[in-house]
Amino acid sequence: TGYITYDPGFVNTGAASSAITYIDGAEGILRYRGYPIEQLAQNSTFIEVSYLLIYGELPTRQQLDDFTSRINRHTLLHEDLKRFFDGFPRDAHPMPVLSSAVSALSTFYQDSLNPFDEPNVELSTIRLLAKVPTIAAYAYKKSTGQPFLYPDNSLGLVENFLRMTFGLPAEPYEVDPDVAKALDLLFILHADHEQNCSTSTVRLVGSSEANLFASISAGIMALFGPLHGGANSAVLEMLEGIKANGGDVNDFVNRVKNREEGVRLMGFGHRVYKNYDPRAKIIKQTADKILAKISGGDELLDIAKALEERALSDDYFVERKLYPNVDFYTGLIYRALGFPTKYFTVLFALGRLPGWIAHWREMIQDPATKIGRPRQIYTGEKERDYKPISER
Ligand code: CMC
Repeated sequence: TGYITYDPGFVNTGAASSAITYIDGAEGILRYRGYPIEQLAQNSTFIEVSYLLIYGELPTRQQLDDFTSRINRHTLLHEDLKRFFDGFPRDAHPMPVLSSAVSALSTFYQDSLNPFDEPNVELSTIRLLAKVPTIAAYAYKKSTGQPFLYPDNSLGLVENFLRMTFGLPAEPYEVDPDVAKALDLLFILHADHEQNCSTSTVRLVGSSEANLFASISAGIMALFGPLHGGANSAVLEMLEGIKANGGDVNDFVNRVKNREEGVRLMGFGHRVYKNYDPRAKIIKQTADKILAKISGGDELLDIAKALEERALSDDYFVERKLYPNVDFYTGLIYRALGFPTKYFTVLFALGRLPGWIAHWREMIQDPATKIGRPRQIYTGEKERDYKPISER
């Protein structure tokens, strides 16, 4: 069978060529389609960044208006799809709810299943960008027992999502512009990150020519895990645990260094960044401002900062080049915006959606794409003879 490269975790395997996102992990550089993340964070909007990732260029005013109005036309969920939510337990984790509902889109839009039919791929793209925020808001409503709100398409994408999440039918809901701006920024920072676990999953599933909805649904489940998107919830749980134990970060760091079972510094470390994650840098700079404005400060932010300072001056973390990653400070902001801990990873999914779509489309159009099918090193038994059950 020839020579097989053994590379667990694909640490050194390039599985795709891609023109979407550039990362230099040693220098802490991140660019979408060539634009530095710092410039996009400062000047752009999530909807514009979504366009940039998917189509490769920043939109003109006309292109952006057209893109926005196409998305707005598709924000409603089919009434039958809404009934899906009745079947889940009220305390269901919102990530599998989100993934299941996205998977179910394949059953409602059977016109969109052929991955090579470009107009329909375009329509699936718009449907996903429009409907995933509605699904995410309904997953929240389900957990609170409140009624679902129809989208209000006079609002922007983030504002509409916030209103569907926190609004009530009988009361007018004023979206706080600071909240909308903060969430828009976080979505920009999450929008793509080249071949991470969930994006690789989307590409792998898509390489079998499964449709876009099916591939994204799988990506959402890959994001669920605590080593990936689930880390943002895990960080908050960690900070709350430290606070409950009297706020001693030294004690916690020592437990991490002693490799106590299940104790890791969540929100630290990254496969590619061996330097400060540029996204974390931007979030840290804005966390103070946002938290002071929205919630009047947060004691957990002080614990997070003390923890970071302590870790960055400790040989264990220095030698291993472990720095805060994107998830270290996001949870504090999500909490200040009013989201429960369990819901944080859904917000990551909303942000990552355009990246997943961009990668799936790039993969489908690339003539070099083949079905993803890794090899293995077999370590099992040599050939042996079957024994009847009476002789075992
Ligand atoms: N706390 C303590 N030790 C760590 C940590 C951490 N957070 N991360 C890595 N290490 C150690 C690890 O034990 C190993 O040391 P040794 O060689 O002595 O055993 C060394 O650093 C290298 O780690 P690795 O596990 O080989 O690194 P990886 O590239 O396989 O894993 C990671 C990357 C992100 C999964 C890992 O750093 C981690 O588990 N971090 C905590 C979870 C987290 O914050 N995830 C979010 C990642 S960023 C956004 C996203 O993808 O969602």
